Amino acid sequence: MGASVKRALRAYLDRLWDGEDHAEAVLAAARACAAEPWKVVGQAGLLARCRVEHADRLLGLDASLRVRPAGAMGVLATVPLGAPYPVLLHPDRRRRGAYDTPVDMARRVVAAAAGACEGPLHRGLDPACGTGAFLVAMAEHRVPEIHGSDLDPLVLEVARIAVPRAQLSIADALLHGSQADLVVGNPPFVPPERQDKELRVSLRRRFPWLRGRFDLVIPFAAVAVERCRYLGGVGLVLPAPAMVQPYGAVLRRRWLQRHLVTDLSGPHPFPGASVEVMLLVMRSGDGPAPMPPFGMTSEELSRLENVPFNPTLRPGDVGLVDEIRQRSLRLGELCLVDTGVVAHSPGRSREDLLHDAPGPDRVPYADAREFFQGRHRWLEYRPDRMHRAKRPEMFEHPKIVVQRIRGKGSVKAAIDREGIYLGHTCTVVCPRAPERVPLDRLRDLILSPLVDAVTRIERGQRMDLYPRDVAAFPVPCSWLEDPDVPLVEAWGLGEEQVERLMGVVA
Ligand SMILES: C[S@@+](CC[C@H](N)C(=O)[O-])C[C@H]1O[C@@H](n2cnc3c(N)ncnc32)[C@H](O)[C@@H]1O
Repeated sequence: MGASVKRALRAYLDRLWDGEDHAEAVLAAARACAAEPWKVVGQAGLLARCRVEHADRLLGLDASLRVRPAGAMGVLATVPLGAPYPVLLHPDRRRRGAYDTPVDMARRVVAAAAGACEGPLHRGLDPACGTGAFLVAMAEHRVPEIHGSDLDPLVLEVARIAVPRAQLSIADALLHGSQADLVVGNPPFVPPERQDKELRVSLRRRFPWLRGRFDLVIPFAAVAVERCRYLGGVGLVLPAPAMVQPYGAVLRRRWLQRHLVTDLSGPHPFPGASVEVMLLVMRSGDGPAPMPPFGMTSEELSRLENVPFNPTLRPGDVGLVDEIRQRSLRLGELCLVDTGVVAHSPGRSREDLLHDAPGPDRVPYADAREFFQGRHRWLEYRPDRMHRAKRPEMFEHPKIVVQRIRGKGSVKAAIDREGIYLGHTCTVVCPRAPERVPLDRLRDLILSPLVDAVTRIERGQRMDLYPRDVAAFPVPCSWLEDPDVPLVEAWGLGEEQVERLMGVVA
């Protein structure tokens, strides 16, 4: 770890221990490594996102500000008992989606967006610039005029030290502003559970097309793209789910029709954040055009309801799922498909209705992990006291249980005939007419890689299986009529088509 990182931390602690406040100490740290702008962004930036606590023992801090024993390897500074020191995870950090972009990613996005820009590139902008990763990358790329804004005055002061020639202002990136030739950034990712309710309500009013439980990154990205002039370059780091989830479909459809996507890659890991990210680069106003990297036409892609921006899609994929759809029903037409219960009362602890032993009014209960391990507990089934109580028949009749969170893996599903109540980490599938399709055949269909491939083409590579996703699983009509016909035959698939579908889930 460079000497400048140590110098920055030392400067921060010296100021704090001299009685100056956190903000002054952060700026001292930024000045201590001002000759190396990326260190300003990274190290002073990290300090800017800290709160101050007092040491309850002698402790050491490493370059990532992790607390270590005072003499441990990698310790850059020692904090005596009772002295103030920086602690990461300021309560505001998650609410504001404040995670700084790694050097290589910011450089790559700026270079690609500058390449996408047609005509003079004079003015570059990051509307939520934080400590300035994209401002430094734009300075390295010799963008003549660099603009940045953020709501946090302290991170802007750090950015000013990183790129002294940048023109910075405290401004709300959700409001429209002047345009630039190049718009880059990593807009805040704020999922619904961390959003300010008033802000969400006001955003729904301003952007009536926002649907469902949207991430704040969607309106931020929408406004950022509008701030790019006609034929200018846009480069954004976006959470991977925002590129495929239904809540972003309206925006993606609009982008697909209006702009030319020149680069789409990912998912890439992103340090500090729990989601992976995609890099999206566009030339503003130059669409519609085929989608990189394989050149799927915008007409083909927009036939998919979700309009997923998925770099693994190839020309012909949509036609293939169209053919399958024409010969299928949706699973939701044959079965009731719903999420399990939320096993606690509003405002109470997660476990207040759960018990380890049976008792009056208690039903067997399992969350996804327990169910697939063959275990269960006991749930006090109190519809009057529960969040989304559900109907008991949904659990008590024989059913198929599908794990909701599957990550990159294949679908996980099993039959339950024991009447286990399932938690909301499961999706429950109950045939409406069990005599029409036996459960074990349905389970085999749900587990088929061909069904998974259709889902991944239509809805993106990494999707949790919510009821709407499972309800959309295709069920071949002829397979319903003849129990012996294999799926490939029921869909009339050729060898190449099967190969392509198997490639999607490989
Ligand atoms: C994910 S960070 C990215 C920072 C920087 N662009 C980077 O990539 O390193 C998002 C930034 O958005 C800022 N922010 C949050 N809400 C904002 C708003 N309404 N207007 C402007 N900036 C905002 C946060 O303070 C944070 O610095």
